[in-house]
Amino acid sequence: MPVPVSGFSKKSKQEKIEWLVHNYFNDNEDALITLKQYWNNNTRLQELHDDFTENTISNYYLPFGIAPNFKINGRMYTIPMVIEESSVIAAASNAAKFWLDRGGFNTEVISTIKNGQVHIDYFGNKELIFKFFADVKPALLVSISDIEKNMKVRGGGLLDIELIDTTEALPGYFQLHCTFETLDAMGANFINSCLEEIAITFEQKAASHPEFSKNSTTPKVVLSILSNYVPECMVRASVRCAVEELTENGTDGETFARDFVRAVDIARTEIRRAVTHNKGIMNGIDSVILATGNDFRAVEAGIHAFAAKEGKYTSLTQANVEDGIFTFSIEIPLALGTVGGLTGLHPLVKFALQLLHNPSAQELMGIAAVAGLAQNFAAIRSLVTTGIQKGHMKMHLMNILNQLEATSDEKEKAIQHFTKNTVSHIAAVNFIEKLRR
Ligand code: MEV
Repeated sequence: MPVPVSGFSKKSKQEKIEWLVHNYFNDNEDALITLKQYWNNNTRLQELHDDFTENTISNYYLPFGIAPNFKINGRMYTIPMVIEESSVIAAASNAAKFWLDRGGFNTEVISTIKNGQVHIDYFGNKELIFKFFADVKPALLVSISDIEKNMKVRGGGLLDIELIDTTEALPGYFQLHCTFETLDAMGANFINSCLEEIAITFEQKAASHPEFSKNSTTPKVVLSILSNYVPECMVRASVRCAVEELTENGTDGETFARDFVRAVDIARTEIRRAVTHNKGIMNGIDSVILATGNDFRAVEAGIHAFAAKEGKYTSLTQANVEDGIFTFSIEIPLALGTVGGLTGLHPLVKFALQLLHNPSAQELMGIAAVAGLAQNFAAIRSLVTTGIQKGHMKMHLMNILNQLEATSDEKEKAIQHFTKNTVSHIAAVNFIEKLRR
């Protein structure tokens, strides 16, 4: 039975692994081999990865793929995508090619404001706290001047602080709602540093304010943190073409457009469909977010909250036909960075950003939104025509063959065979077994 351990983070990497293999793998060498086979021979690179987090014992590879032929605002892009799901990059590439011949994608950044809050407990007189806030606001602004100096030089910084009465939702709960422009940085560290400084100043001023002590109701800071809900940091991506232009391989454009719009309307109406529909969108967005070293958990949390902003979870995309024109679009909140964080540190992230013509954060917002829209287009296009499994299983075939430890020769024969036959797990197993007999 594994024993509790103290001071674990202080152990060397070798000691950590030995402890692990002894306590959890019965000293089995295979566990050690599994971990070590992913170590990088380039010591500098390995140390860089070791230092990203605490207690790193190995590296976890994900495929880094590319989807070419994206025309975005008239410029050609090859989009880097980090994802393990077999069919995602193929789907993105297909959608890119489809829209390349129909004018490409357009994007527009609607807003770029980020936000964070100092959450406060105060059970006293409301007028008093509002009066106090008006008095101390200049001191709060000054308190962060060192932290925001560099950001200010570049044209960003804190935009405003508001005191918000949230007591109706939770008795005694007020907040300092702070808004920020962080330019090409995602800005999490910057925002959190500002908020914590504002919180300290606010509490200090409150503690020495005679009116509060007279009423024995001094406001108390509960916590200060940025918000990953960023509905004031919005981007829109869209495609449009005449309905006739959707005609392809025997499908007439009108039927396709009608079925497509209906599929999106179903996702707008029914949560069970909306979640899967949006999951497909996130296949595209997350893989760009990962490739470019951004925080996919923050993006996921913010986007799904936005999808439920009307009190009911719904589709992130819209589709319609008006006057013979098919339009398909997405509008999402995205707080991204192209400087700071992993962007200057991780060699593959630097590579991904170079591949994208070293975009500004605003350009990256557009590219990520396009990846999501393209993914959704490809999914719905399959769903309302052939179904999803045909393409998906074709791409998944290689995973099944690898599971069966197929040789290169067996793989080649299987790929040949399944160009004309339907892929399924059992069909692949039977095929390989027959070959081996
Ligand atoms: C699979 O990863 C994503 C899809 O299920 C998305 C969708 O149903 O729209 C294909």
